[in-house]
Amino acid sequence: MNILRLSYSGYRNLLPGEFEPDSGINVIYGKNAQGKTNLLEAMWLFTGGRSFRGSKDADLISHGAPYAELNLAFFSEDREQTARIRVENGRRSASLNAIPKRSAAELIGTFCAVIFSPEHLSLVREGPAFRRNFIDSALCQIQPSYAALLTRYNHTLVQRNALLKDIPHHSELLDTLEVWDEKLARCGEEVVRGRMEYIRQIEEPAKTIYAGICENKEAFGLRYVKSADHLREALRDSRRDDLYSGHTGVGPHRDDLEITIDSQSARAFGSQGQKRSAVLALKLAEAEVLRRRTGEKPVIFLDDVMSELDSGRQDYLLNHLEDCQVFMTCCEPDTVRRLRTGKSFEMRAGRLVEQSGPKTPN
Ligand SMILES: Nc1ncnc2c1ncn2[C@@H]1O[C@H](COP(=O)(O)OP(=O)(O)O)[C@@H](O)[C@H]1O
Ligand SMILES: [Mg+2]
Repeated sequence: MNILRLSYSGYRNLLPGEFEPDSGINVIYGKNAQGKTNLLEAMWLFTGGRSFRGSKDADLISHGAPYAELNLAFFSEDREQTARIRVENGRRSASLNAIPKRSAAELIGTFCAVIFSPEHLSLVREGPAFRRNFIDSALCQIQPSYAALLTRYNHTLVQRNALLKDIPHHSELLDTLEVWDEKLARCGEEVVRGRMEYIRQIEEPAKTIYAGICENKEAFGLRYVKSADHLREALRDSRRDDLYSGHTGVGPHRDDLEITIDSQSARAFGSQGQKRSAVLALKLAEAEVLRRRTGEKPVIFLDDVMSELDSGRQDYLLNHLEDCQVFMTCCEPDTVRRLRTGKSFEMRAGRLVEQSGPKTPN
C-alpha cells in the first residue's frame, strides 16, 4: 500500500495543493498549528473511518469554503487506484476509481493505514473507552462487516436506553423490553466474539514486538475483560438497575482490554517506559495484523510521536517499518535529520513545501 499523490482543496487550514510523497519515509515538519496533523487526517480519511481527531464532518471544511475535496492516487493490489472524498453540507461522499460509493464508509478495506499519535498513550493510561475504541477501529479496517455490526449494536443500545427512560412513565412499554434485550444480546455477543478473535490475532505479534523493544525478559499479555459472561441472562438480571439508572449496565460497551506486563496490569503498575513500549507494541502489531489479513503493508502515520520516544525506541520503530510507507510529523526537523532516505516537507500556514535533500559533495 502506497500513496502516490494527494491533492486537496477546501480542507481545514490547508491551502489548495498537491503533493507526491516518497514511497518510503516522509517527514513533515513545522511549528505548531501549521496544518501537519490536518494533512495526515486528510489521508487517513481514505481508510473510510472517521477523523481520528473525533471531529464532525462539517469541521473538515475550511472556514468560509463551500466544500472540501480530497483526491488520492494510491498503489494497491498491484495497480494504481484513485479515490475521491468530498465533504459538503456536513456530509461525506466518496468514489473509488471514478465509481461513486453510497457513503465514505464504503471505502473501508480499500486503503489501509495505521495512525499512531501521543494520544495513543491513553491506551494504557486512561479508561476502557480508549481500548475498546482501539480494537473497534482496528477491526473495522480488516472486517468491514464488523463496522456494520457495531453500528447495529450501538443503535440498538440507544433504543434500549431510550426505552429504559420511558418505561417509568409508560409501564405498558415494559413488555417491549424483552425484544430489545434479545436484539442487543444477539448483536452484543457477535461484537464480543469479533473483539476476542482480534485480541487473539494481535497478541502474538505484540508479544514479539514488545520483547524486541525491551531487552529484559518481561512478558507482554492481553486479556479481554467482559462485563458479563452470558449477555442475555445478564441483561435480564440487570433490568432493575438499568430501569433505575436509565442506562444499560452490561454489554460490550462496558468491556475492557487488560494490557499486562509480567501478568500485572500495565495501567496500574507499569512504568512510563513500559507504558510507551506497550503502546508501541500494540500499534505495530495492529499494522502487522492488517498486513497479514490484507496481504498489503498499511501506510503508517506517526503524528508527533518521534520526539516522545527515546532514540532506542525510535530506531526500533523505524527499523520495524522499513518497507512501509511512513508519514511522520515533528516540530524540529532535527528529530529525524539522521534519516537519510525519503523526502521531507515543511508545513507553514497550510502550505506544504518540499525540501531538497542534503547536497552531496561535488
Ligand atoms: N475547518 C477549518 N478551517 C480552517 N482552519 C482550521 C479548520 N480546522 C482546523 N483549522 C486550523 O488548523 C490549525 C491546526 O492544524 P494542525 O494540523 O492541528 O496543526 P499542527 O499539527 O501543525 O500543529 C489550527 O490553526 C486550526 O485553527
Ligand atoms: Mg499536530
